Amino acid sequence: MPNVVVIGAQWGDEGKGKVVDLLTQFADVVVRFQGGNNAGHTLVVGGEKTILHLIPAGILHPGKTCVIGNGVVIDPSVMVGEIDKLKAKGAFQDERQLVISLDAHVIMPWHKAIDLAREQALGDGKLGTTGRGIGPTYEDKVARRGIRIRDLVDEARLARRVAERLPSAREELRRLGAASDLDEGAIVRQYAELGRRLARYAADASLVLHQAIRGGRSLLFEGAQGTMLDVDHGTYPFVTSSNTVAGNAATGSGIGPTEIDTVIGISKAYSTRVGGGPYPTELKDDIGEKLRQIGHEFGATTGRPRRTGWFDALALRYAARVNGFDGLAITKLDVLTGFPEIKVAVAYRLRGKVVEEMPCDIEELGRCEPVYETLPGWTEKLDGVRAWGGLPQNARSYVERLAKLVGVKVMGVSVGADRGETILLDNPFKR
Ligand code: GDP
Ligand code: IMO
Ligand code: MG
Repeated sequence: MPNVVVIGAQWGDEGKGKVVDLLTQFADVVVRFQGGNNAGHTLVVGGEKTILHLIPAGILHPGKTCVIGNGVVIDPSVMVGEIDKLKAKGAFQDERQLVISLDAHVIMPWHKAIDLAREQALGDGKLGTTGRGIGPTYEDKVARRGIRIRDLVDEARLARRVAERLPSAREELRRLGAASDLDEGAIVRQYAELGRRLARYAADASLVLHQAIRGGRSLLFEGAQGTMLDVDHGTYPFVTSSNTVAGNAATGSGIGPTEIDTVIGISKAYSTRVGGGPYPTELKDDIGEKLRQIGHEFGATTGRPRRTGWFDALALRYAARVNGFDGLAITKLDVLTGFPEIKVAVAYRLRGKVVEEMPCDIEELGRCEPVYETLPGWTEKLDGVRAWGGLPQNARSYVERLAKLVGVKVMGVSVGADRGETILLDNPFKR
């Protein structure tokens, strides 16, 4: 049975949650493998909206297992809050649905405080992080001083790990001019309690996935953030602190890369970005504002207005390269209804020359002027369309042009936020 990876092809918020929720019906296990509650994945089912930050977007489907892999960083209070909220609305009634890797790292109070204090110290040069402690937690992981779920669920071990780390965390907060009065006893008590709440889900997630694969079950990997936010391949340093690309689906979950059959890139029919960093096709005019209003482009995690712009074919070609996309899903096509003309960046102008590959250096990228191709728009509403043939000719031509420019075929088109508002052209689980 195929194993499929879903990846954000732009700067995040492409509609990964919606696509994963839709595809879960064909899979058995849904897996998060990186990021943390910096993610905000929105699912809309029959008009009811659910925003998930940590739990995989398959959780609304009874009987499907949701795995949080070793590559994720977990804020246990957010995790417990999300579990309680789902249960309160009648979802996630079977505890066996959730598995949390014992090796996932834990976001501790000092990680959040350091994240916020650093952003404040950077002033105008700030990255615009979500302030959730993501970067400092990954730093501790790589520095080999992190606290993992296996520590959280063992109070004596947790107390030792907190005692080891707290002095240097206090020191760093002092240096940053932030409050450093973290109470060791209170932290251990609070986190040990959270550990007790989460212990029943903690397991060797790699083994769980291995057994699922051996049992002929299908895995669906849910990327968080987007390719341009990848710590290696994104617009560094304006990135998140994990690898968001498809290759990390293996490392971040403990399966071998040979188990991955299909990689799908999700992209909006235009583009958005939250936080700082270069963004060549950004529209700071009325058109950008119109995209923001019609597309409701406000962050699902922080509520910040998203920056908006036209589709950037160079960014997508780059994402196709570093992820190895087999197919694309184009979301929010409905948002473009009523725009008389639609632009697509097909190249950049840099120092008087035309370039067709995305420069990896952010200073260079910041100097790039997009070279646009203009396509005709359409006026028909798309939210009721359920078949490719039902789309207006100009909308079809637009999607076909994007596929041609990126060099990857389109497997699905989304025309509304609801699970059903989708045109699935090629089902990755039935190939
Ligand atoms: P994610 O982080 O990639 O899961 O995406 P977000 O949930 O942060 O942002 C995507 C937003 O677009 C959410 O509000 C979705 O409900 C909404 N959305 C997804 N697909 C569509 C679509 O095809 N049309 C419209 N209008 N909204 C969509
Ligand atoms: P989903 O999964 C959009 C951005 C932040 C900031 C940068 C670093 O919903 O697509 P961090 O808190 O990760 O250290 O912030 O990354 N960012 C996102 N932007 N969608 C996300 O997640 C994001 N997660 C982080 O805005 O620019
Ligand atoms: Mg999001």
